[in-house]
Amino acid sequence: MRSIKEILEEKISPLLGTSAEVTRSTRPEFGHYQVNNAMKLAKERKQNPRAIAMELKEQIEQGLSEWVEKAEVAGPGFINLHLQKSFLAKELDEMVRDRHLGIEQNHQKQKVIVEFSSPNIAKPLHVGHLRSTIIGEAIARLFEFYDYEVLRLNHVGDWGTQFGMLIAYLREQQKEVLDGGLQVSCDLLLKFYKESKQLFDVDPAFKKRAQESVVELQARDEESVKIWERICDISRQGFNEIYDLLGVHLVERGESFYNPMLQEVCAECEKEGLVTESDGAKCIFLEGYKTQEDKPLPMILQKSDGGFNYSTTDVAALRHRVRDEKADWIIYITDLGQQLHFKMVFDATQKAGYWSPEKVRIDHVTFGLVLNPDGKKMKTREGDNEQLIDLIYRAIDKAKGIFKERLPDLPESEIDHMARVIGTGAIKYADLSTKRNNDYIFSYDKMLQFEGNTAVAIIYSYVRIQSIFKKAGVDLAEVEKAQMALEHPSEVALGLHLRRFSDALEAMREELLPNRLTEYLYELSDHFNAFFRDCQVVGSSEEKPRLLLCTLTQKVLKQGLNILGIETLERM
Ligand code: ARG
Repeated sequence: MRSIKEILEEKISPLLGTSAEVTRSTRPEFGHYQVNNAMKLAKERKQNPRAIAMELKEQIEQGLSEWVEKAEVAGPGFINLHLQKSFLAKELDEMVRDRHLGIEQNHQKQKVIVEFSSPNIAKPLHVGHLRSTIIGEAIARLFEFYDYEVLRLNHVGDWGTQFGMLIAYLREQQKEVLDGGLQVSCDLLLKFYKESKQLFDVDPAFKKRAQESVVELQARDEESVKIWERICDISRQGFNEIYDLLGVHLVERGESFYNPMLQEVCAECEKEGLVTESDGAKCIFLEGYKTQEDKPLPMILQKSDGGFNYSTTDVAALRHRVRDEKADWIIYITDLGQQLHFKMVFDATQKAGYWSPEKVRIDHVTFGLVLNPDGKKMKTREGDNEQLIDLIYRAIDKAKGIFKERLPDLPESEIDHMARVIGTGAIKYADLSTKRNNDYIFSYDKMLQFEGNTAVAIIYSYVRIQSIFKKAGVDLAEVEKAQMALEHPSEVALGLHLRRFSDALEAMREELLPNRLTEYLYELSDHFNAFFRDCQVVGSSEEKPRLLLCTLTQKVLKQGLNILGIETLERM
């Protein structure tokens, strides 16, 4: 279904003889939509804008009465439109019966790659990875709902010098790990990582052995590969525990996957004349990139010792995603700190001819820091503070405490389920409802509130509708036989907001901003609460159509939350 804005523009343009410009009204007393053309037309025709607006108002009221109940001229020449309630009701009837709630599907089945999470092997996930995971999951789900072909990639850091250190260290100091005699947890692996790093920094002989180990690994030496795989397995278990808890699915395709392509990618860049030698390193200098000392800033493809860089892998990954995966749209989700890196990668790969903006859309979706309620940067990186998994379990625990108090008679297993849905939902929603480039304050107290812009409040509206149905004692199939009817202003306001679900999703897709959807859902639950306050549902003469409006509200709430990766509850 097209948006109401588009429908109105299509109907009004012929009256104007130019494309109509329709926007949402900023306040309810200004109607539902407004037409903004009169001022510009007046300038062109050297006429009075209000006179033009008056004429247009007449035309709209006469010609578009099926859609517009009344039009009013306001201010310098705006035309405020009040929609015909019967038109809105008809639209909602269509929406409630559509499996996709009136959202137009991507019939060309374009392919989008969403790369997110991307933690590093041998280190734990930190809060930055958590944000990437939550935002990435929501964006991937949105595209799935639109019926794109979606590939969710986890670009884990599973290659590089740190493996040389770890391999040399395990070989020399932790032999029993290698022959499987010692079970290694992620924490223990982190400890080994830190110890090997320390040795690497102070012991030149160890450093040399570590570097040799990297070379061996790169040459696919059998024993080195085996140790490397073992290390990756241990980390993977830790990552998966978190993904399972959050209900996140990803295809792991780490940096190592692109390793065999790096040499060729370098050669191609050289052939394109992009590469300059500087201090023995192969560099790409791009226009407009400067160091802090105002010197040209290189992107290093190959270091003087022959090793490749983080950037080289990203160049190869981009080439692979366009050329081999045939992606139409690629989305990278990382913290703001990597902005420069990705800008350079996108520019260099475009120069190398690997992609062009006419054929592929590429976005770097960035986000700000996670702060403690005291405003300081939250750190879980080095394991000195709490681990990410503990952070999530803590939210679940707190939710459990709340439910135990509210619903003391419920069986433990149900409380556990509810606590998981609300605990993880609260964390996700708190993150997604922050405009992503802003820093986000991690506060259990705020995210678990029953009122305000929280997952809890929105799920609570959903549950409320559930209890209306219980009270009415009718089954859904019966309700869906009814037709929408909107009379009361609160009913109209709710209906209009429901019809704008597609606008919210569209905004999230274009700007890749999940907070567009959280704002929409927050407003929806507000509109619903006002409707519930003002309009009697069960036992009224309007019972059937009002239950139908509740049904649509419930469907939109559930679908909206589902896109955010948040489940609903049947009671709470
Ligand atoms: N592993 C990196 C980190 O933890 C993030 C990877 C981002 N993706 C990429 N294609 N470079 O910082």
